[in-house]
Amino acid sequence: MRTVLKIEEVSKSYHLGRLAVPVLHDINLAVKEGEFAAIMGPSGSGKSTLMNLISCLDQPTSGKIIIGDRDTSLLSEIELARIRGKKIGFVFQTFNLISRLTAQKNVELPMVYQDIPKAQRVKKALGLLTMLGLGDRADHKPAELSGGQRQRVAIARALANEPEVLLADEPTGNLDSRTGRK
Ligand SMILES: Nc1ncnc2c1ncn2[C@@H]1O[C@H](COP(=O)(O)OP(=O)(O)OP(=O)(O)O)[C@@H](O)[C@H]1O
Ligand SMILES: [Mg+2]
Repeated sequence: MRTVLKIEEVSKSYHLGRLAVPVLHDINLAVKEGEFAAIMGPSGSGKSTLMNLISCLDQPTSGKIIIGDRDTSLLSEIELARIRGKKIGFVFQTFNLISRLTAQKNVELPMVYQDIPKAQRVKKALGLLTMLGLGDRADHKPAELSGGQRQRVAIARALANEPEVLLADEPTGNLDSRTGRK
């Protein structure tokens, strides 16, 4: 199987003024196509930090992140944005839904950026919401949804462009165990 994600000797420190806050130390990881990997650790150990690096929202202090066959440290902002848009789906720990848009429009948004025709994206978004048990909540805005429903909208949005890599930061944290398993 093809390796879709490779992390080589990645370290990350945050900088607060002159103070360096070291978080990740020489992380190595390879994930093959079709593989499912879970990153576990206590609160504050750096899981979200690593996810943000993998999704190219942030850059490592040292080391390499390779997505497909591309070393992301060598890519321009525009190329990174393209990879994020097409190849990576991200379910954020805090959802990051757009509050003025309905569930339906939130799920459509990544497809808008990929120029998917309207009829197709409307159908796809509603199909995903229905699959996640939210077919009757498509016209609700995030504030009109429960926490677990918001999380499921975020999952639907992450799946919208059928990404090669799906990153999920505690994606079942707000769901009851049965819905989480489903
Ligand atoms: N922007 C930032 N600037 C400075 N320090 C940060 C920043 N973001 C995170 N940190 C610190 O980095 C460490 C790792 O944070 P991170 O959010 O990656 O943890 P986590 O493993 O996802 O925790 P949780 O399980 O609580 O979500 C924490 O100690 C945090 O205080
Ligand atoms: Mg976290």
